[in-house]
Amino acid sequence: MKENVIFCYSGTGNCLDMAKNIAKSLGDTDIIMMRKYPAVTDVREAKRVGFIFPCYGGGLPGHVERYLYDIKVDPDAYTFAINQSAAYKGEGLRKLNEIIPLDYWAAVTHQCTCIWLFPHDLMMPKMGAVEAQARSEHFAEKFANDIKNNVKSKRRVPKAYWNKAEHAGWPMIARMQGESLKANDNCVMCGTCAKVCPTGNIRYAGKAVVFGDKCISCCACVQYCPQEAINFGKITEKRERYHNPNITVEDLNQEIISF
Ligand SMILES: Cc1cc2nc3c(=O)[nH]c(=O)nc-3n(C[C@H](O)[C@H](O)[C@H](O)COP(=O)(O)O)c2cc1C
Repeated sequence: MKENVIFCYSGTGNCLDMAKNIAKSLGDTDIIMMRKYPAVTDVREAKRVGFIFPCYGGGLPGHVERYLYDIKVDPDAYTFAINQSAAYKGEGLRKLNEIIPLDYWAAVTHQCTCIWLFPHDLMMPKMGAVEAQARSEHFAEKFANDIKNNVKSKRRVPKAYWNKAEHAGWPMIARMQGESLKANDNCVMCGTCAKVCPTGNIRYAGKAVVFGDKCISCCACVQYCPQEAINFGKITEKRERYHNPNITVEDLNQEIISF
């Protein structure tokens, strides 16, 4: 096992890009993806164990919370977490810290990928994709230096009790949004949406793309569709698409990425 392990969930690439930048800087690192059940959960041999994930509806994305309970970390390992969001951290860090106590935590904003809610540049502070990416890379360097030096956070993980209430209803909202997904006539049945969906919610039946009831609203199908043919009802028809410029569908589908 590598000296450093980073567990990463990423819907549309921002968090995986952050994880890769930090891993490159640390060296000797495995990124273990958490879009599906992680390929490795016992990481007791690693000296540093980190978690990089976005805020979804005020909390942890997808099934990450469930997976966290199975992860085994050496009690003496240095632990860290980086949270990405469009505007606010939410309760994900607190929840993670309850399950796996953290030595270091940080949060940074990036483009908003929740396309049915906001255009992607509606992040805090508001900025376009190029500027946001440069800012994210700058922060990755700072976080990697802190992690290399095993820096411990002085501030406690935010309690975010309001977000706990917000997040309680999130799975239902995500599923309801998923019910409005449709592919229009521009669809060329290329298969990208089915490949990038972390829950296996998309299948092909004859000439139709069929969306099931397991949507977690990550928006990857809408954001990665090369024809921009997938929409949440009418809300997203005129909205510009965004996914992290450095991260491909193939990158997102790796189980472990080694540096
Ligand atoms: C379904 C969904 C819900 C989101 N909810 C929030 C939120 O509650 N607060 C927030 O500030 N950002 C929210 N965001 C924005 C993401 O946290 C942000 O865009 C992040 O950079 C996405 O990372 P990723 O590309 O690795 O998936 C949400 C995005 C999605 C797709």
